[in-house]
Amino acid sequence: MQIFTTQNKLISYLLPLREKYTIGFVPTMGALHKGHLSLIKNSNEKCDITICSIFINPTQFNNPSDLENYPKSLKKDLLLLKKTNCNIVYNPLISDLYPNGEKIKKFNFGSIANTMEGKYRPAHFDAMATVVENFFNIIKPTKAFFGEKDLQQLQIVKILINDMRSNVKIISVPTVREKSGLAKSSRNKMLSRSDTQKASHIYLCLTYCKKHKYKGIYNLKRYVRKEMQIQKIELEYIEMVNIKMMQPIEQWGKKNENAICVAAYISGIRLIDNIIL
Ligand code: PAJ
Repeated sequence: MQIFTTQNKLISYLLPLREKYTIGFVPTMGALHKGHLSLIKNSNEKCDITICSIFINPTQFNNPSDLENYPKSLKKDLLLLKKTNCNIVYNPLISDLYPNGEKIKKFNFGSIANTMEGKYRPAHFDAMATVVENFFNIIKPTKAFFGEKDLQQLQIVKILINDMRSNVKIISVPTVREKSGLAKSSRNKMLSRSDTQKASHIYLCLTYCKKHKYKGIYNLKRYVRKEMQIQKIELEYIEMVNIKMMQPIEQWGKKNENAICVAAYISGIRLIDNIIL
C-alpha cells in the first residue's frame, strides 16, 4: 500500500497508471469503521486500483469543539486499509489541499442544499463540495464511492459532478449497521455504552415508519417526535423527502423514491441516519 501526503507526488505516481487501469476513489475523514471499509471493498470489486483519502476537512465542521473532538486513529486506519487491500492512501496536510488558506467555494446547488443538513449546518455542503472537487481534480478517478448513510451529501456530489462536467461515476453504497441497527459512524466512538443503546432507537423509529408507512407522514412524524422524547434523544429534524431533490413531501411517492432522514443529538453527539422506502 502506497501512502502519499502531497498531491504532487500522488499525481506523478498516478500518471502512468491512468492509461492502463481504472481508479476507484473513496474519500473519508478517517476513524475508519466497517461502513468505510464497505466502500473500499466495493471499489476493489469495481476498479483496478483503489485510493482512499483520509483528511479531516476543517471547513465542514460547524464549531471548533466538534472538529477538535472528532476521533483520529491514523495508525489503526492504515492497518485496516492494508487488510482490506486498499492500494493507495492520500493523507495530506491542510496546506497541501488549501495552499491559499482554508477557503470555502460558493456553489449553487439550489434547494437540494437548503434542507436538513444544509439548513442546520450552514455552509456545510459548500465546504464538503470544495474539498471533494479538489480531490476529484487531483485524483481524476474513474469511479467514486459514497455511502447512503449521508444521503443528502451523496445526491449533492452527483450534482457537483454534473456541474464540473466530469465523467466520474458516483457509486452509492448501502449503510452498514451495528447488530442493534445503529448506523456505523466515526462519531459512535464518542458515545458511552448506555448512549449507544439509546442511539439504536433512531433506527428502530425509522424501521417502524417504513413498516407503518400507511399511517401517513404527519402521524409518523408525530410518532417519532414522541418516541425521541421518551428516549430522551434530542431530535433536530425528522423529514420525509424525495431522494432526488431532498425536498419534504406530504405524500409517499413510488417505491425507492423517498427517504426518511433524521438528525439527533445524544449527550451532545450529533447522529444522522435515514431509511429509503
Ligand atoms: P466520512 O464521514 O468519513 O464518510 C466517508 C464516507 O463513508 C461517506 O461517503 C459516508 O457516507 C460513508 N459512510 C459513513 N458511514 C457509513 C456507513 N455506516 N455505511 C456506509 N457508508 C458509510 O463523508 C465524509 O467523511 C466527508 O464529508 C467527505 C466526503 C470525506 C468530505 O470531507
